[in-house]
Amino acid sequence: MEKIYTDSKVELTPFISKHYDSILNIASFGLYKKFIHSAIADMTIQADNHILDFGCGTGRNSCIMHQYLSDKGFITGIDLSPVMLNQFKDNCAPHNNTEAIQQRIDIDFDLEKRYDIVFTSFVIHGFPHNIREQIIKNAYRHLKQGGQFMILDFAEFSLKEMPFFYRIPFKIIECKYAFDFIERDWKAILTDYGFGNFEEKLYFKNYARLLKATKI
Ligand SMILES: C[S@@+](CC[C@H](N)C(=O)[O-])C[C@H]1O[C@@H](n2cnc3c(N)ncnc32)[C@H](O)[C@@H]1O
Repeated sequence: MEKIYTDSKVELTPFISKHYDSILNIASFGLYKKFIHSAIADMTIQADNHILDFGCGTGRNSCIMHQYLSDKGFITGIDLSPVMLNQFKDNCAPHNNTEAIQQRIDIDFDLEKRYDIVFTSFVIHGFPHNIREQIIKNAYRHLKQGGQFMILDFAEFSLKEMPFFYRIPFKIIECKYAFDFIERDWKAILTDYGFGNFEEKLYFKNYARLLKATKI
């Protein structure tokens, strides 16, 4: 399958998609599990929240978020990849208040529902910047007033100042869009699109961040 964005590394092959969770566990030496649980705890999800997960992948994160919800809460996972969505459906099968929809986040769309949280985890860095702006507009549209866009992704840092033992693997593994993502001022960008009241939590020696931006 041809990539939509040539240099993207968030558009995964069917093989990588099928084994995504295992690959992440192995590549992170098991650290990812602890990290994602603490990042999702830091979201302070309310029991009745309706959450839209942009680029939901296998549903692993959605299943963890679901632990914070009552029957009044709901999770919609959207993703480009049918291989990912099938895993989402299997993983979230025990939960009636979840759904998986095939939907690209990089084009203008409207699910005609408004959410308390739009969450996206390690997706938005993987696009050219003008496309990220469309993703931000889509997040804004799908939020209720006062709802929060929560971006879990790389933090802001200078690649040049990163120690070589992190920089070399980062440069090998990550796509060139990520190099541009880390150098940008995300609070300023989100402010231009109508967000404010920012909160952030940093992880992995400050190289990863949960950024919460409120629709104001
Ligand atoms: C690096 S994975 C992250 C998956 C998940 N968010 C997680 O943290 O486990 C990137 C995900 O984004 C999805 N994706 C890539 N491009 C997309 C697009 N244009 N629209 C929707 N999903 C997309 C991929 O199919 C994949 O599931």
